[in-house]
Amino acid sequence: MNDHSEAAARQGVGRIVNLREKLGLVADPWIPRVVAQMNDYQFKVVKVRGDFVWHSHADTDETFFVVEGEVRIDMRDGPVHLHAGDLFVVPRGVEHKPFAEHEASLMLIEPCGVLNTGDARGERTQPNDVWI
Ligand code: NI
Repeated sequence: MNDHSEAAARQGVGRIVNLREKLGLVADPWIPRVVAQMNDYQFKVVKVRGDFVWHSHADTDETFFVVEGEVRIDMRDGPVHLHAGDLFVVPRGVEHKPFAEHEASLMLIEPCGVLNTGDARGERTQPNDVWI
C-alpha cells in the first residue's frame, strides 16, 4: 500500500460516514465508490439500475446491503430478491448478476482489491479503490 492509498484508507476511520449523503454524490449506476475501510475490507456505495454482467469472484465472498430500493441478484440456482435493509452474501466462486428494475442504492462490503466485474473484465469494469 503506497502513502496515498494508506491515507485514503484512514479517511473514514474515526469519522461518521453517512451512506445516503455519499450516495447523493454518485450520479451514474454501476460505479462503486469507497466510503470507508476497516483493516483489509472496504465499504463501497453504488447505485444500480438495469442489468449488470454475469461474473464471479474466485477468492472472496461479496456482501450486498440494500440501502434503498429493490435489487434482484440472479445466480445460476435462481434469483434472490432483496429489499431496503436486506443484506446478502454471495459466496465466493458463485456466478451472480445484479439487476434493478428501478434505481436502487447499495453498500458493498468486500476485501480491498476486488473488481466490480470479478472475472468478467470488460467495458463495465470500473477502476478500483476510488473514494468519495
Ligand atoms: Ni460481484
